[in-house]
Formats: sequence, structure tokens, C-alpha cells
Amino acid sequence: MAGRVEGKVAFITGAARSQGRSHALRLAQEGADVIAVDLCGPVETVTMYPPATEEDLAETVRQVEALDRRIVATKADVRDPAALRAAVDDGVAQLGRLDIVLANAGVFEVAPALELTDRAWQEMIDINLTGVWNTCRVALPHLVDGGGGSIVITSSTAGLKGTPNTIHYTAAKHGVIGIMRTLANEFGKQSIRVNTVHPTGVDTVMIQNERTWGLFTPDDPNPTREKFAELFETLHPLPVPYIDPVDISNAILFLVSDEARYVTGVTLPVDAGYTVR
Ligand SMILES: NC(=O)c1ccc[n+]([C@@H]2O[C@H](COP(=O)([O-])OP(=O)(O)OC[C@H]3O[C@@H](n4cnc5c(N)ncnc54)[C@H](O)[C@@H]3O)[C@@H](O)[C@H]2O)c1
Repeated sequence: MAGRVEGKVAFITGAARSQGRSHALRLAQEGADVIAVDLCGPVETVTMYPPATEEDLAETVRQVEALDRRIVATKADVRDPAALRAAVDDGVAQLGRLDIVLANAGVFEVAPALELTDRAWQEMIDINLTGVWNTCRVALPHLVDGGGGSIVITSSTAGLKGTPNTIHYTAAKHGVIGIMRTLANEFGKQSIRVNTVHPTGVDTVMIQNERTWGLFTPDDPNPTREKFAELFETLHPLPVPYIDPVDISNAILFLVSDEARYVTGVTLPVDAGYTVR
């Protein structure tokens, strides 16, 4: 049986690990080839959790190839449009086309609003907002040339609700909805669909670290994964503390497949009900 994205090519940012790797594998399982980019290195003002590495990106390559799909992987920073353009152009030259764009790369950091440094604000906006625009703008000419396509931007529940101690992250994640809504209008006639997904906590290193645990259990001198899970579960109508990367991959797979051929301009929560609370 043909896969749900058989013969398509997907450009995925932040593909070295976690959600980005999961998206690459899920789409590859359904027949897509992949153009992968990742920073594979630290961001100055993001210190809560370790950065992805070149070995992580190599592991994504190994796992996609084990599914008998092709992958072109490049170390590139979404803040650098020239590097991103070179990566996507090279990927399209090798794989022949572009159909799907997943603007997934992002960083997370917490700070009380008035303690946030100018540098931390700027780096967050540069990566989580401008980086998404850079991803879209280097990929769009290929989608136009190919006669259409589908873009999914990974926002967050913090793109739909105010969340304390993350003003820069929350502002950027709201901002990408503006990018999505604009592009959905501007490129609709060219059969390009644009949507956002809004995950609640996803079980990745981005939230599974002591500083994030501490943020949610501020009165506890010894925050743990277990106590964090207990508290986080109370935020969800569904009985789950956080969700898995593949839950986001499955929502994205639907959005980029032909099953969603008339779905555009949508802000899709994948959040165990967090935003209806
Ligand atoms: N984990 C969560 O709870 C959660 C919840 C909602 C939304 N999100 C969003 O999901 C996306 C994926 O996060 P994740 O949980 O997989 O975390 P992660 O840190 O494991 O993965 C993010 C990836 O993006 C890459 N990246 C960061 N900055 C980059 C840059 N400047 N250029 C290129 N690549 C860069 C990282 O190297 C990393 O591989 C992010 O946009 C994040 O904001 C995460």
C-alpha cells in the first residue's frame, strides 16, 4: 500500500533529535524523502538543557536510511538565511522536488519578564520567530515551482495562551501564527497550505530538565520529573502529564497529507485539552 506522503520531499528544521527526528521518521515511514537541517550546537542564552550535536543529526540520517528513504542533512542555523537557502537548494537538487516544509526548530528558556536580558529576548525572537520566516522564505520558491505544497509551523500552547516567565518564547510562538495566516492567504492561489500546530508539554529534553521542573514546582527545593509530571497532569483534561514527539508527528502527517487538502490557516492544538481549561 502506498504511504500517505509517498514520493514527496520534506524540508525539516531542527531535525537532529526529539520532535524533528520523529517527524523525519514518521514521514519517511509514509514514503517521503527528507531534507534535514539543524544547528547542532549551543545557543548563547539557552542554558537550561544541552544542545543537539552533529552525532544526533547523523543518527537521524541513519534511522531515515534504515527505512530505505533518502535524506540530505546539513548543519545550518535558521538565523542564517543564506545557509538555509543553500541547504534547501542542495536538497532539492539531490532529491528532485519539495512538497512539505516543517518549521520545527526552536529553543526554550525561562526568566521572569523583568529579569530577561536584551540578548536573551533577541536570540529567542531571532530563532523562534525570524528563523521560522527564514525557513518559509527559502522554501516557498520551490513549492511554487512544484505547483503547491504544505507548510506546518510548530508553535506551542504558548502561542495560544499567555504563559508566565516565558515572555520572549510566548511572543515568538504567538508571532508565528501571523506568519502562517499571512502566507496561507498570500500563497493559497498557488495551492500552498499553511498551518500551525500547538503542542502541550512534549516529553523531550526541552522540558525534561531541572529548571523547567522547578518553574512548575517553585516551592520545592528538589524538583523531580515525577513531581513535575504530577503537576503538569492537572493542567490537562485528559489523564496524561505530557505527550510524545510522535503525537505531534501524527498531527503533522495528517496536515501535510492529501487527507487535509482543504485544511489551511488552522491553529491545531495537540495538547490533551490544555487550551480549553
Ligand atoms: N518540548 C515541548 O514541551 C514543546 C512544547 C511546545 C512546543 N515545542 C516546540 O517544538 C519544537 C521542537 O522542540 P523539541 O521539544 O523537539 O526540542 P529539542 O531542543 O530537542 O529540539 C529542537 C531542535 O531544534 C534545533 N535548533 C535550535 N535552534 C536552532 C537554530 N538556530 N537553527 C537550527 N536548528 C536549531 C536544536 O538543535 C534541536 O535539535 C520547538 O519549536 C519547540 O519550541 C516544544
